[in-house]
Amino acid sequence: HGVVRFFAQRGIKLGDPQAKLIADPATRADPGVVYQEIRERGPLVKGRVAYLTVDHGLIFDLLRSDDFRTVVVGGNLPGPLKVIERHTRSGALHPLAPPSLLSVEPPSHTRYRKLVSSVFTARAVNTMRDDVQRVADTLLDELVASGATTVDIVPAYCAKLPVAVISDILGVPESEQKRVLEFGELAAPSLDVGLTWPQFREVETGLQGFDAWLSDHIAELRKNPGDDLMSQLISASEDGVFLNDRELRATAGLVLAAGFETTVNLLGSGIDLLVRHPDQLARLQNDPSLWSTAVDEMLRLESPVQMTARVARKDLELAGKHLEPGSLVVCVLAGGNRDPKVFENPDRFDVGRANAGKHLSFSGGRHFCLGAALARAESEVALRTLFDRFPHLTTVGTGTRRDTRVLHGYSSLPVSLGEPA
Ligand code: HEM
Repeated sequence: HGVVRFFAQRGIKLGDPQAKLIADPATRADPGVVYQEIRERGPLVKGRVAYLTVDHGLIFDLLRSDDFRTVVVGGNLPGPLKVIERHTRSGALHPLAPPSLLSVEPPSHTRYRKLVSSVFTARAVNTMRDDVQRVADTLLDELVASGATTVDIVPAYCAKLPVAVISDILGVPESEQKRVLEFGELAAPSLDVGLTWPQFREVETGLQGFDAWLSDHIAELRKNPGDDLMSQLISASEDGVFLNDRELRATAGLVLAAGFETTVNLLGSGIDLLVRHPDQLARLQNDPSLWSTAVDEMLRLESPVQMTARVARKDLELAGKHLEPGSLVVCVLAGGNRDPKVFENPDRFDVGRANAGKHLSFSGGRHFCLGAALARAESEVALRTLFDRFPHLTTVGTGTRRDTRVLHGYSSLPVSLGEPA
């Protein structure tokens, strides 16, 4: 197994919680077992390459601390992880390399974030909510018309909605949507760690393809702007300074990678949770006002981004340990989401959980997910519409988990639609 070899070559034993988390395929379906093991060892655990934490309070504070910065591919990764830098060899923009939002800190981050937020407004999200509703209705009409009773709901539904939304944002014409979907599928694991070589190569192909396509697309939008957010971003400026081509491509690339598989995974995991908990589905059917809490509860239990990492900028003390500059701390968001100090009965799925929104699945601090409001709206509409139309939907078999470690979800989830409402 490529990942096991990756660690073995670097002298990292599988007993190390960090290696287990990343390399052990047995933990992919239920990583909670490893998170529990880390929790029992204390709030901050030293692994061979990085520190690890599943402590909600520690993660919350760390993400807001100026003593740490985000990981930069090609920049500040510790020795054994330098291999990830192969990603940048092709010269294609990587979502974790400058000038992407996720890889820069103030003052650049402040400027980019302000410009992107100026087009990513609450009004824009509301318009997109209507679009999602339309796409969801159309997709389900097509499923009914096809007469199919069993479908793989991930490609048939979960993947199509986020792609439609991202295409809307980026101004991708309908005829090009299939290509963007292909780039997204290949490039999405760029946010993952411990990829095997074939996965590396696929990611690189996706990033290169998308980058080349974007250059032409941005040139086209400069000539013929549409009413999409990308066209607006091209003409947005602060103190007379516009984003240059590289910055625009980096932003679009990040939106593709950050907004694509994350939402697909949340939808797949959400469907699975509801089918496995008919009592909770019944609560939603009786009281649809619970849907927005339910989506947060799904985010909490099945965090589509299981972990993120930060790098210490200087010598510092953290949870009783001394960290040197450059130390890597893996913040296991999904582990923090099950911290019993914050969430009562943390493994229980409760669509009415009062503090479900306290999850860490959108990270925190200045890099807090820019698409959070959109992702929440999109998921609520997608899931509510699916279960309104097919209240008796059930899963068939167990589905197939994605072979990724940071990203978490199903690549395939066959369902039986049941009698339509
Ligand atoms: C950042 C999760 C959907 C755009 C992030 C981060 C997380 C995350 C954890 C921060 C990573 C870190 O701090 O290291 C998610 C989840 C989603 C989702 C779970 C869906 C369920 C979206 C969507 C978009 C989006 C739909 C846009 C269309 C972004 C951007 C950033 C980001 C631009 C970088 C923000 C910055 O660095 O300032 N997301 N995301 N995300 N996300 Fe999302």
